[in-house]
Amino acid sequence: MRPDLTLQAQPDAGAVARAAADHIAARVRARGNLTVLVATGSTPMATYAELARRVQAGTLDLSRVTAVQLDEYQGLSDPDPRSLWEWMDRSFVAPLRITRTVRFDPRAAPQDTCRDYDAAVAAIGGIDLAILGLGLNGHLGFNEPPSPADAPTRTVTLTPASLESNRVYWDTDVPTQALTAGMEVILAARSTLLLVTGASKRAALGRLLTGPPSPDFPASLLSGEAVTVLADRAALEGQGPAPVSAVRA
Ligand code: GLP
Repeated sequence: MRPDLTLQAQPDAGAVARAAADHIAARVRARGNLTVLVATGSTPMATYAELARRVQAGTLDLSRVTAVQLDEYQGLSDPDPRSLWEWMDRSFVAPLRITRTVRFDPRAAPQDTCRDYDAAVAAIGGIDLAILGLGLNGHLGFNEPPSPADAPTRTVTLTPASLESNRVYWDTDVPTQALTAGMEVILAARSTLLLVTGASKRAALGRLLTGPPSPDFPASLLSGEAVTVLADRAALEGQGPAPVSAVRA
């Protein structure tokens, strides 16, 4: 088990969502104008729904948060039902009543939107909190393996594994190219929540928790006290005993 990662074990995906929402709410209470890097994908949806429930109940105010897009397919017209921005808007920005956002501009040339994205993130002082999911091949955002720690914000060609795993989101073809926040943006986040749920993530989580850090499994480059891996029992099953100090149930 990697000693440099904090693993927080939870019984199920609902408990992961509540723990993640607690973590995010605590950070927002400490500093209202938080800048948050926002993953789409299936895993964080329950967390966003929990946050929305708290916002609607009036117990959480996210109005000063800036939400930063993590990744986007390339070459989509705007609007497109597969747009990850539209997914982020539906699941995070609108229900959480967030007014400040940074996104990839689908109308700009890829190198221009990447440059503008990095400039916008730098202008707001970088990422305070990254909310991430774990790709089956270890990708973070669309940083496909191999992606070194200094991989910049850029266009990537999606691997067959990612095309396959993204196929579950849409009734139609998955675009073959994407834009992603670089590993250098993600790894510079002042804190990170990596959400991992379900039996399908077991092998990927095992590699993250036990393997050596390597660009061949980009998520393994996450490291340090500010990184919390929140995983449920289904994903943790068979991972072997974690050091007691690393597991906060
Ligand atoms: C996708 C996205 C990531 C996401 C990851 C896990 O390909 N590019 O941003 O976090 O893979 O997705 P899921 O949560 O659906 O398993």
